[in-house]
Amino acid sequence: MRSGRLVIVAAMLGTAACVGAPEPLSEAEPPGPPSPPSWPPSDWAGDLRMPEARDENSDPRVVEIRLEARLARLNLEPGLVTEVWTYDGQVPGPLIRVRKGDRLIVHFTNRLPEETTIHWHGLRIPAAMDGVPGHSQAPVAPGSTFDYDFVVPDAGMYWYHPHHHSAAQLGDGLYGAIIVEDPSEPAGLGDELPLVLSDMNIDASGHLSSHHNGGDLATLFGREGYTLLVNGKVRPTLEARVGARQRWRIVNAARSRYFQLALEGHTFVRIGGDGGLIASPVESERLLVIPGERADVLVVPRGPAGGTLPVRWVPYDRGFGTAFLRPEEDLMRVRLSADPPVTPPPLPELPRTVKPLDLAGARPVEVEFTNDSTSGQFALGINGQPFGGEQHFHARVGETQIWTLSNDIDWDHPFHLHGFFFQVLDASGVPSLPLEWKDTVNVPVKKQVKVAVKYDDRPGMWMFHCHILDHADAGMMAMLLVSP
Ligand code: C2O
Ligand code: CU
Ligand code: CU
Repeated sequence: MRSGRLVIVAAMLGTAACVGAPEPLSEAEPPGPPSPPSWPPSDWAGDLRMPEARDENSDPRVVEIRLEARLARLNLEPGLVTEVWTYDGQVPGPLIRVRKGDRLIVHFTNRLPEETTIHWHGLRIPAAMDGVPGHSQAPVAPGSTFDYDFVVPDAGMYWYHPHHHSAAQLGDGLYGAIIVEDPSEPAGLGDELPLVLSDMNIDASGHLSSHHNGGDLATLFGREGYTLLVNGKVRPTLEARVGARQRWRIVNAARSRYFQLALEGHTFVRIGGDGGLIASPVESERLLVIPGERADVLVVPRGPAGGTLPVRWVPYDRGFGTAFLRPEEDLMRVRLSADPPVTPPPLPELPRTVKPLDLAGARPVEVEFTNDSTSGQFALGINGQPFGGEQHFHARVGETQIWTLSNDIDWDHPFHLHGFFFQVLDASGVPSLPLEWKDTVNVPVKKQVKVAVKYDDRPGMWMFHCHILDHADAGMMAMLLVSP
């Protein structure tokens, strides 16, 4: 059904240009052959199915939705009722599905007890739609509304979350996924399953632990919740058929936790990341997805029919005390159906060309994650400055810059730049392989990472920060002014 719809959409689109969108990052190639039917059954995603936002606009190129932020009492941890912060009364918020080049209009209402905004993580949209309070827009007061309205230029998996008191608001449930389909993508990659990973601290009576508990050390460590959530569910189960390839589209929406996944006896074949498909697949036994980051991976379930396989969360050492004596945990389960095994069709060529950025004349920019403890207290910042001061970074439309991200602190930092994709450079300064577009990259303890970014024609104030949101809220954020 899905591929049928895509074919119709592709026919309707013809060669229409996407008005108002930045220049495309890749050229798509013609669609491949259709995939064999009969699997999956409609309920294969079981507990993991996420409600989708309802498009109220009859124009096929416009997706127009309503979204409301409000408190809701949900049953997350079995047997307990927890009051959480939600979009439309659910965690995660509704899945927003659009096609590349569509216009997305979101009529947003804030029914929370405090101000908020929505940031569209990874989307190359105008600065005025980026959801950063005080720069893109005024914060949306309780009881007020704001209309987000932009063209979605790139295919891939993205997500949305508040940018006011981000650690607390996102940590308490305000996050949701956006899938931007590319009608020309080949069929047969796998049965698609969006997976939004997060965690929460729910106590024995069902209450969320306070936003601000734990003091300085907890801020430095980054607050992780004890309850792991996949699409808002605790240890959910997914139906699988032996040999039927699945395509997991993962976003790490946790406020601090790194998700490293393992599925015994299996490998993950990563075909995409933050900015859509990558140039060639990468196979690995473990899959690391850092806060804010996305991974598009193929998994071919194998094992005895009727068996159940745990997908494990495996501790990842992101600095002092973060992996020591921590056990692995079950994140979700894959139940193998009794259907006869199938042989997955060969993996189609990934229809993605990513050109290395031309780095001739690129301007170097130094960005250091800092902790100034001279006063006896800690003060997180960028280049020694906590967020909110005079410090601005600068760039011009059309310019290419090479950022050296340095980390001299005892914990890793997931660096995230709003509004623009970058390419990660290897040690010799050329884009690392396979080529891919990213908006979030890990900067390990006592290490440097170089990224190259070219600014397309979207001037304005853009933010960058550490996506351990406890770090961000404690000052590890800065603004970049892109001038025309
Ligand atoms: Cu997920 Cu400032 O971003
Ligand atoms: Cu962002
Ligand atoms: Cu950090």
